Amino acid sequence: MNEAQNQHYSPVSKLLHWSIALFVIIQIPLGVYMVTLSNEDIWYYRCLDLHQLIGVSLLMLVAASILWRFVTPTPKALPTITRIQNAAAKTTHVTLSLILLIQPLLGYLFVTAWGDPLEIYAILKIPAITELNKDTSEKVIDIHAYLAYTLATLGAIHVIASLKHHYIHKNLILKRMLPRNKN
Ligand code: HEM
Repeated sequence: MNEAQNQHYSPVSKLLHWSIALFVIIQIPLGVYMVTLSNEDIWYYRCLDLHQLIGVSLLMLVAASILWRFVTPTPKALPTITRIQNAAAKTTHVTLSLILLIQPLLGYLFVTAWGDPLEIYAILKIPAITELNKDTSEKVIDIHAYLAYTLATLGAIHVIASLKHHYIHKNLILKRMLPRNKN
């Protein structure tokens, strides 16, 4: 594989990255809005259906992106990037992926806490694996909220860092993830 090929992400990596970014940008405000609604409001359940659908889609997209990383080469670190910057970026990416894997599972545990299956429109029905008491289910949904705010903070750091690379350091970090860019 030559240098030029090593400098950009594959179309599949780009598609996965931007789909995950788009879903996260919708999912967090949707969750924050949803919890302002009363449990008697029909819009609470409409938002919850969409939130669950996006959450399960995110789980599948993130799992696919992790598997994809094992089968396709990722671009090399740029020579101008220090070891510390590289380690910080890797830690942020791994933490973002872990949160995105854990969040849907916590949501699932909360929704199925009383033994009911998770039902998403007529598309998907996943039975409960366990029942939780009220205290535990409240802890689960509290962790879900904390992780969502951690995700939003790390996501913002990730965006600011890539913009800094693009506009201040003028390197390829952002460009090589853009849809139409080959280099
Ligand atoms: C990566 C995926 C997900 C993200 C980023 C996310 C994010 C959020 C956020 C920001 C909130 C509002 C927290 C608050 O301010 O209290 C929330 C609430 C909630 N989420 Fe998620 N969520 C995800 C996946 C899921 C999934 C897959 C489910 C269900 C299967 C789910 C079920 C819930 C429920 C039931 C609530 C509200 C509980 C209540 O009414 O208090 N979430 N989520």
